[in-house]
Amino acid sequence: MPDQNDLIQQFENELKEVNDAQALDDLRVRFLGKKGLVTQEFKQLGKLSPRERPARGAELNLLKERVQEGISRRQIQLQNAQLSQPTLDRTLPGRRSQVGKLHPLVQIEERVKDIFRSMGFTVETGPEIETVYYNFTALNTPEWHPARDDADTFYFDDEKLLRTETSPVQIHVLERGKLPVRMIAPGRVYRNDKPDPTHFPVFHQVEGLYVDKGVTFADLKGTLLAFYRRFFGPETEIRFRPHYFPFTEPSAEVDASCYLCGGDGCRVCKHTGWIEMGGSGMVDPKVLEGVGVDPEVWTGYAFGLGIERTAMVWYGVDDIRLFYENDLRFLRQF
Ligand code: DAH
Repeated sequence: MPDQNDLIQQFENELKEVNDAQALDDLRVRFLGKKGLVTQEFKQLGKLSPRERPARGAELNLLKERVQEGISRRQIQLQNAQLSQPTLDRTLPGRRSQVGKLHPLVQIEERVKDIFRSMGFTVETGPEIETVYYNFTALNTPEWHPARDDADTFYFDDEKLLRTETSPVQIHVLERGKLPVRMIAPGRVYRNDKPDPTHFPVFHQVEGLYVDKGVTFADLKGTLLAFYRRFFGPETEIRFRPHYFPFTEPSAEVDASCYLCGGDGCRVCKHTGWIEMGGSGMVDPKVLEGVGVDPEVWTGYAFGLGIERTAMVWYGVDDIRLFYENDLRFLRQF
């Protein structure tokens, strides 16, 4: 029969080694379980004489109490240790949840659409795979025009190509035969350009077309001025520089005064005070005739604006390729 002090000593030693709830429970079973060391001592009581039994019984009860008491004590110690572990630091700032946003080019396109819609324009679309007829011929682009060149245009075959501009949407809409027409057509266009800070083989334009009785160049000027004042701010001025486009006559390039410096010259306008925005003009009578519209009755203006160009100016982005790399560090800024 082991000495009761030895058992207590053994228990206390093992208790010190216990560092988690599982080990503590294992210890409890080893001493107080059905086959536990203390339980086995109780079973020996029957073998003692009636005279010896009460004293040994009292001893064992004491032993059992000490074991139980030791286990509860250690249990509380373990619990306290766990509670004081810094599992949650309430002073840390919360984690921001990420909310998605529209791509900067989409944001610009949406603003452009909103402004023109409010001026009575419809929003149209056309196919990105076009025919030579819609992309060039119907737009009065001569056979010799460099824009038709294989080097500038992605051709699928002799007939089909990726549209190089949104202007063919003018033809699709006029072919419906419903006049007047007052529409914009935003969309992707493609050119066989090597990517550099100002070129990318795909980009976006917004085409504009207004055909009605008695439309004049003054209407074009007034509409674009109103548009740019809404877009860049009420101080904005515009100017027209004579140019050539096959489908408009006369044609002009449109500049807007710099929204940043107001015309004094700064980084955004490259110290000219003006920002090139796009092309425009009065629809060439040959284009109207080609879709069965009588140019003696109907006249119209057209314009084409670049979305990337507008976004780069407005956001101060100096490399068009950034819009297509989808680097989140770039996109999160808009
Ligand atoms: N399609 C022309 C381009 O891509 C832009 C343009 C110029 C569109 C004049 C027009 C316009 O509608 O009238 O360079």
